[in-house]
Amino acid sequence: MIPKYYEFHNPVKINAGTEALETIPYELKLMNVSRPIIITDQGIVNAGLLKIVLDGFTDSNITIGAIYDNTPSDSSLETVNEITKIYKDNNCDSIIAVGGGSSIDTAKAVNIVISEGDSDIKKFMGVDRISKPQQPFIVIPTTSGTGSEVTVVAVIADKKNNIKMPFTSSLLLPKVAIIDPRMTMSLPAKITATTGMDALTHAIEAYTCLQKNPLSDSYAFTAIKLVIENIEETVKNGKNKDARFAMANASTMAGIAFSNSMVGAVHAIGHACGAVAHVHHGNAMAILLPYVMKYNMDVIENYYSEILLALAGPDIYAETPKDKRARKAIEIILLLNHKLNKLCGMPIKLSDAGVTEDQINDIAKAALNDGAMLPNPKDLNLEDIKTILKEAF
Ligand SMILES: [Fe+2]
Repeated sequence: MIPKYYEFHNPVKINAGTEALETIPYELKLMNVSRPIIITDQGIVNAGLLKIVLDGFTDSNITIGAIYDNTPSDSSLETVNEITKIYKDNNCDSIIAVGGGSSIDTAKAVNIVISEGDSDIKKFMGVDRISKPQQPFIVIPTTSGTGSEVTVVAVIADKKNNIKMPFTSSLLLPKVAIIDPRMTMSLPAKITATTGMDALTHAIEAYTCLQKNPLSDSYAFTAIKLVIENIEETVKNGKNKDARFAMANASTMAGIAFSNSMVGAVHAIGHACGAVAHVHHGNAMAILLPYVMKYNMDVIENYYSEILLALAGPDIYAETPKDKRARKAIEIILLLNHKLNKLCGMPIKLSDAGVTEDQINDIAKAALNDGAMLPNPKDLNLEDIKTILKEAF
């Protein structure tokens, strides 16, 4: 059903393809800037990816103003302040983030401080607290999972007070996202699997949550199809450029989908598993997805039936009786988890991902208070969440 009212917003220009990186100098010229700072991390440098990005500037009129290649995996206020100083000291005029979620979130936060002209970033925490136009910003994702290149959120740690600070504004979106398969070719198999399952979860939760709408549905549906057709191949054969490109597209499309609808209980419980037991986000998504789907099924069987077409293709969809399609969709996800486990050792039970039985209560409590629980299509109470956790344990 189409909601009575919804909003859909994606102003990010997507440059996608095997030579997409080479378009950056032209994009900077269009934005009337010529001295970007590149924000990345050591993993990207060691994998040779920064060099590929820099090679794209050969013969251009662009001067790289500064490179910050030390972004930690859990970025903090200190990192943001350090990079802001480097940006100013080197007269930079634009920002390029190269990396996974942390480098992209860090770059978004640096952009807030510079654009607002205020070093107290805490003032801008929350929803729509940013008011000034941001500096020209380009994002080059190096994993196929978070969709951060098209999402309006950044999360930065305040280590002194031991809290995570969320910033949400459409002004945080980059001007351009570069989807180039060269950037994900060297991702290890297990990270390929878990980040891919994160993208699949974004798409399935976007397609089934309370804030779904026809536009987010279309992005989500295609993202599901692209993940299911390519995830095993990218885990088995990381050098398959076409499969890598398909997964990168899936991740971006799933990001656009959930940015314009929401996620749900898989993310709520997954966030809690991360906070209490330090389970990697993608691992938690893969493990929890089929069990949450089972739990939600009586409320949204029709949506799960619909996505069987994306998950299994038209032949299997047509030959599966209507009342068995939703269950078949869940079976396919469970089977996929087992295949990925065999291929790369991706954990498929919480007990294999570092969760202990005595943490289940704390995880359930944290999940109940997570914002992602609100748009879940079925109300879950503490006991429901514990049941899901025990099944997934
Ligand atoms: Fe996610």
